[in-house]
Amino acid sequence: MGSPGLHKAREKMAAAGVDEVAIETFAHYYRLLEHGETGMIPEAAIEPVDMPSLRDVEVSDEQAQDAIRTTAVIKLNGGLGTSMGMDRAKSLLCVRKGLNFLDIIARQVLHLRQQYDAPLPLLFMNSFRTSADTMAALARYDELPVQGLPLEFLQNKEPKLLAKDLNPVSWPKDPDLEWCPPGHGDLYTALRGTGLLEQLLEAGYQRVFVSNSDNLGAVPDARVAGWFAGTGAPFAIEAVRRTPSDRKGGHFARRRSDGRIVLRETAQTLPEDQEALQDLERHRFCSTNNLWFDLRKMQEALDVRDGILGLPLIRNEKTVDPSDQASPKVIQVETAMGAAVEVFPDSQLIEVGRDRFVPVKTTNDLLVLRSDVYDIGRDFVLDQVAVDLPFVDLDGEHYKVVAEFDKRFPEGAPSMKKASSLTVEGDYTFGARVQVVGDVELSTGAAERIPADTVLSGEE
Ligand code: UTP
Repeated sequence: MGSPGLHKAREKMAAAGVDEVAIETFAHYYRLLEHGETGMIPEAAIEPVDMPSLRDVEVSDEQAQDAIRTTAVIKLNGGLGTSMGMDRAKSLLCVRKGLNFLDIIARQVLHLRQQYDAPLPLLFMNSFRTSADTMAALARYDELPVQGLPLEFLQNKEPKLLAKDLNPVSWPKDPDLEWCPPGHGDLYTALRGTGLLEQLLEAGYQRVFVSNSDNLGAVPDARVAGWFAGTGAPFAIEAVRRTPSDRKGGHFARRRSDGRIVLRETAQTLPEDQEALQDLERHRFCSTNNLWFDLRKMQEALDVRDGILGLPLIRNEKTVDPSDQASPKVIQVETAMGAAVEVFPDSQLIEVGRDRFVPVKTTNDLLVLRSDVYDIGRDFVLDQVAVDLPFVDLDGEHYKVVAEFDKRFPEGAPSMKKASSLTVEGDYTFGARVQVVGDVELSTGAAERIPADTVLSGEE
């Protein structure tokens, strides 16, 4: 039994062939949604958490090599980059001439396989919207698939729910838009449901390293693998120190009631606790979403819960057609992969450098990545050549959407290795080999072209 909305959603999922455990998982979160679950974590219920730093832990070469040889790599690639106006995988975007995110990820892994003589399988978690494009782009890497293992697995899909009554939305104009992926917390359900969890264990793999495909800093590092294997922990997340730009985002903390590590997101913070959330001295660490888990212990944790880990619910409110703000309001029921840190009493955290956290969430991030701030060496690892990362702020009107952004940088990104900041307010088109030096602010009313070879320095 349940509400009519849940009943209809279940039927819709079953008719579309969605895995039974995935339907039960959705039903679990639907009930939480229906009961007005907010997932709030009051400041009084948590305390700051400390952790070792990768810099200081001792890992021998042998430990590192042993661990990386029994590790599999998963890249989360099911999202659509909607915040950058995309409706396909962000990882298809170009980073360097002829190389997109997928090329760089593939080549990082191929290089590590040689370096460590490790099988290091690479698996992409795609959604129904990102699978075909991703597989086509990877087809050029004949040597990438590891025997007996697929290159991808598909995450589940669930109906978007009408915000007004929680019924599955109907959108005959484009029925694909009636569905969404259930957030990256679906990783565990999808791994188990596709049989891949079992398959990896049978093939002798002991742990996985999971990260976002939009973070090219997330190399499956053998030292981190060695550290994780050495702890004997079931689950670990790599953390970085929060900076003023992370102030509004989530952070790690320890729950007072049971001592477990939790992730508190902004949406889980009460209005009266917002100040504490933003206190970088108190809550010093945020998540990279680079995560390690022991396959056997994850399998046990899922099995005892009938496949439902019970992660905190994220209620994501959008419009059914993301490109049409007048289309009906819907709720997407989502969970986040990192929230599983609280499932295990002995989860671990480790502080890593910013080099392992280079997320591309906006075109500002993309501009820096495409510029000469980073070198990409023979190992395809990003090497930051600029002393400090420049702060980039392009105006929302002309640069937020990738297609518009690309039109304004037709010759590629300017040189920014000597830039401290670039703030652009207005419709500028950049010519070839433009250099940005120091703090540059551009703001005139009219559309303007910046000629090739211009050196922009100081206020223009
Ligand atoms: P984000 O939410 O940061 O990126 O997900 P996104 O979904 O690509 O972009 P927006 O929010 O629509 O603009 C972080 C990582 O998790 C993956 C994404 O592909 C990205 O690598 N992801 C996200 C999934 O694999 N599945 C999901 O359901 C959601």
